[in-house]
Amino acid sequence: EKGGFATFMEKEIHDQPQAVRDTLLGRTDASGALVLDELRIEPEELRSITKIIVLACGTSAYAGMVAKYAIEHWCRIPVEVELSHEFRYRDPIIDDGTLVVSISQSGETMDTLMAVRYAKEQGARTVSICNTNGSTIPRESDAVLYTHAGPEIAVASTKAFLAQITAAYLLGLYLAQLNKKLFSGQISDIMADLADIPAKIGEILENADQVKELARSMADATSVLFLGRNVGYPVAMEGALKLKELAYIHAEGFAAGELKHGPIALIDEGQPVFVVMPSPMDRHSLHAKVVSNIQEVRARGARTFAVAERGDAAVRSQAEGVFEVPETQPMLMPLLTTVPLQIFALELASAKGYDVDQPRNLAKSVTVE
Ligand code: F6R
Repeated sequence: EKGGFATFMEKEIHDQPQAVRDTLLGRTDASGALVLDELRIEPEELRSITKIIVLACGTSAYAGMVAKYAIEHWCRIPVEVELSHEFRYRDPIIDDGTLVVSISQSGETMDTLMAVRYAKEQGARTVSICNTNGSTIPRESDAVLYTHAGPEIAVASTKAFLAQITAAYLLGLYLAQLNKKLFSGQISDIMADLADIPAKIGEILENADQVKELARSMADATSVLFLGRNVGYPVAMEGALKLKELAYIHAEGFAAGELKHGPIALIDEGQPVFVVMPSPMDRHSLHAKVVSNIQEVRARGARTFAVAERGDAAVRSQAEGVFEVPETQPMLMPLLTTVPLQIFALELASAKGYDVDQPRNLAKSVTVE
């Protein structure tokens, strides 16, 4: 059942090429245009959407943050991302132009279910991105876009996260297509790059020795920080969450630009800092800014480890360790940069002798508020 791996988590990390491939499968026609028939909301109605609210918890909320960057960039529709449990207890502004997109692996998370119910009562249209067929959240939503990651057994989410991000890209591209915000050639180019992602994840999995070695050498760490910017920010948050959940180490993710607004005070001699590098091709030239962040924390004694695009020479000369991922377009990088951080957390927790499939105090599906 674990497919030859020692733990479900390791198996599920290795299932990720398939999870992304299966989530992409059958969602385009021969011309490369998106076909999401399962989204049973009339195209007319979808065209009238003026605002999107993404609701989710935990790892799924980090997938939601990636969704925001992608949908706003491709579709020019404003997107808010909110933790389900916060959303319901303020006075959120919802009208018939609001599309609520919930993201849930299990489809049973009570906080998210209650938030979706609340949004429906207020008149929102609801779409569920979900990994579990026939579960409650998709049943109660107007439409569902299933992720096809297959059953996720390990408590900590891995392959479902990559599948959620993939589904969010599909939704974003579909809305861009409906609203004519991207040319069909642009959409088919992005889809072609997405189709190459599974093989690239495979390459990362095959070349993971260096990150595993680092993880084993860091079993005594008491705190690890993660920095990222743009779509690397949610990846940093996810890297920190995986380390908390599996290795019970204090870990925090930050937006790299926030560093000098406070977190840099945490840096002292030997503090490990992971930096999720933006693509050198990022259109906002964030790369140089994040290289500066590496210099800033190093100057204060931090040990720096970067997850960066292969061939990123600037980072190579700055960070103590660099974990390379194959090249892809900047928006799609989370599907690659997440993987070394998952492996790092898994390996470090295993080195400490912890049960990575069933971390203490956690349940796979949180069906209470
Ligand atoms: C993290 C993790 C949790 C879940 C969260 C939402 O590894 O497993 O943070 O992501 O409880 O669960 P779903 O996606 O089932 O709604």
